[in-house]
Amino acid sequence: MDIQRYLREKKEIVDAALEGYCPDPGGTGFEMDYPPSLHRAIRHSLVDGGKRIRPILSMAAFEAVGGKGDGILPFACGLEMIHTYSLIHDDLPAIDNDDYRRGRPSCHKVFGEAMGILAGDGLLTEAFRVMTTPTSVDPAIVLEIVHEIARASGISGMVGGQVADIESEGKEVDLPTVQYIHTHKTGALILASVRTGVKLGGGNEETLRALTHYGQRIGLAFQIVDDILNVEGKTELLGKRTGSDLFKGKATYPSLLGIDSSRRMAGELMESAIDVLHPFGAGVEPLKEIAKFIILRES
Ligand code: IPE
Ligand code: IPE
Ligand code: MG
Ligand code: MG
Repeated sequence: MDIQRYLREKKEIVDAALEGYCPDPGGTGFEMDYPPSLHRAIRHSLVDGGKRIRPILSMAAFEAVGGKGDGILPFACGLEMIHTYSLIHDDLPAIDNDDYRRGRPSCHKVFGEAMGILAGDGLLTEAFRVMTTPTSVDPAIVLEIVHEIARASGISGMVGGQVADIESEGKEVDLPTVQYIHTHKTGALILASVRTGVKLGGGNEETLRALTHYGQRIGLAFQIVDDILNVEGKTELLGKRTGSDLFKGKATYPSLLGIDSSRRMAGELMESAIDVLHPFGAGVEPLKEIAKFIILRES
């Protein structure tokens, strides 16, 4: 299959749905558009930006287990809103102090720190509004999924990982610590994206187990590759600055193991992720290709 085309087509669907959730403050002037500064800051970071890999994973998993229709879209958008909030806050001066993101100045560089904090808060909360807006999906399933996404995003997931990340700056940390950081700050939401698709699509226990194994491996691999790209990637392709992890003394796989071992580890995780999908037939082909893309990506 043509994975580039698949990713492009899915991104278009996600982009259009997100656009629908984010009114353009230059538009009609309804009450919803107020305050325009907040909407502008959110649109700056959310609209048209990024690879949309988390929503795409949720859609690919949903379709792999036989899910039909567009019931996955509010969850796909919610996952991307949570991810985008995490990037806005991650770039703040108090966290990573990065001034460039998704090929443009970071949210706080354009709109100021207070607006960066509030745009992130707004996106996080909006994600849960979007995901819990009543639809024809069984409310018990919605509750289960939203509970899992909250867990993956919060104290025992992404936020916990972010805290360990900043507390490890400039320190010599061991492999289990870096693994904790990566599986929490990044892996948890990626895993939750995959599991959201499986649960909403009606996948059985066996499928959920296999795709959980897949999601855990690609989640960790994704952040190892992010570390490698911070060393070897190109700013023009990544849309964010390189070399910053070394400068900040971040706990990364390359700083601990070197580039070659990190690359090997990411490759092994990808293979292990793909291996568990073999019994599942053609429907899981996109998930296999996404795992390969995660390793080979340059952006
Ligand atoms: C970057 O995520 C931050 C991490 C969690 C590694 P992505 O590489 O998915 O960033 P976008 O969404 O494409 O900008
Ligand atoms: C980002 O990790 C993780 C989250 C935003 C939760 P990094 O700080 O390593 O990602 P980049 O390199 O800034 O995108
Ligand atoms: Mg960070
Ligand atoms: Mg960062």
